[in-house]
Amino acid sequence: MNLCVIGTGYVGLVTGVVFADLGNEVICVDKNEEKIALLRAGVMPIYEPGLEEMVARNADEGRLHFTSDLSSAVRKSDVVFIAVGTPPKEDGETDLSQVEAAARGIAGAMDRYKVVVNKSTVPVGTGDFVRNVIETNRVRNVDFDVVSNPEFLREGSAITDTLCPDRIVIGAPNQVVAMKILELYAPLERPMIITDVASAEMIKYASNAFLATKITFANAIANLCETVGADVTQVAKGMGLDNRIGPAFLQAGIGYGGSCFPKDTRSLLHTSEKFGCPFPLLSATIRTNDEQPLRFIGRMREAMGTFEGKKVAVLGLAFKANTDDIRDAKSLDVIQALLAGGAQVTAYDPIAMENTKRVYPQIGYAKNAFEAAEGADAVVVVTEWNEFKQINLERLKAAMAGSLVFDGRNLYEPAKMKRLGFTYHGVGRGGVHHRAVTTVSD
Ligand code: UDX
Repeated sequence: MNLCVIGTGYVGLVTGVVFADLGNEVICVDKNEEKIALLRAGVMPIYEPGLEEMVARNADEGRLHFTSDLSSAVRKSDVVFIAVGTPPKEDGETDLSQVEAAARGIAGAMDRYKVVVNKSTVPVGTGDFVRNVIETNRVRNVDFDVVSNPEFLREGSAITDTLCPDRIVIGAPNQVVAMKILELYAPLERPMIITDVASAEMIKYASNAFLATKITFANAIANLCETVGADVTQVAKGMGLDNRIGPAFLQAGIGYGGSCFPKDTRSLLHTSEKFGCPFPLLSATIRTNDEQPLRFIGRMREAMGTFEGKKVAVLGLAFKANTDDIRDAKSLDVIQALLAGGAQVTAYDPIAMENTKRVYPQIGYAKNAFEAAEGADAVVVVTEWNEFKQINLERLKAAMAGSLVFDGRNLYEPAKMKRLGFTYHGVGRGGVHHRAVTTVSD
């Protein structure tokens, strides 16, 4: 099939290259000419395992093209994917201006029937909005359909998630157009759900809000574990073995971040308020997650007495492992608090340091974790990189001047850390604070 994908961010680029890999003719469009020039030269705008090789292979074999000429890309395509950014506005509402611009571009270029597919994460009702924009701006009286086909890929595993999604959601106005999109995905042999446009749009938000709430529930349990002397990693294991709960997204930590959960939970809350349908559970998730890094930082301050004059190593800057993305990364909150308190900060991350330098040029950046920890009073682990999980702890301890480790991802075993001479603080690893005492009277 001939396809074009408007927007070469995480979703657009990965979708485009995977469809090309499945044998389609794909044109990736972006208004940023510099980005297109770099993509043509094989330079990726983002770090994503396996992406560069897959782009190179499909471009070499002539199935994948890059352009900033939206009109010609639309004219050459049967199916047009919209995968542009949908950033949040100040009040949490989703900014649809890039979606609108793409729809206007499609309207101006359409010369025959097109299927327009919304892949960006957009609030319920955006399918109708896109239909209206195209209808009122189309230059020729040609027919089209608008489909919702939300994307569930995660950063860091975007290619594998796209090749092997848990489900493919197709929200279509009729069966014929649904079958056309289904045909595109058929080679993946994954479960598909065909539904109406509004339900498909809601599936995406409901899923992300549910996962964000699941993490937040684990974090709330972790906070309670700290007080009652339980270990949240054990609790999560015990909960996760219940098939109805499952172990995924139960890892307590310093709070969820990234480009999706914070934005999507706020957008869904905005939708619920707009339609006069309050969602207090979601408000509580958002509030609890905002408080989670503050709580962690409070714990650091309590253990260190003061940040003033302390040398602190921050291990991990990305909002999660296997990405260089620092959007809403909790490392930024930690660094901000440390700097405000007068600490001297040295950070290390395998790939997210360049992005962080733009936000915090004033801190030190090390070549590796040991260099960051050199002479440090405390080490803070913020991202669950494998290289931190496997780190030589004896060497880390030897590099440090102090013994404090604040583990925002529960990567280490408290007993082992104690044995090695660290003063260890995880998240929800009980016994650290007060153990509740129960007495049984007869
Ligand atoms: C998420 C959704 O998973 C994906 O389906 C959607 O398309 C985009 O948003 P992503 O933001 O890339 O993907 O990362 P994800 O792996 O979901 O992690 C999000 C945040 O939650 C990270 O900060 C991560 O560290 C945190 N997290 C995740 C936890 O704190 N605990 C967990 O158990 C899982």
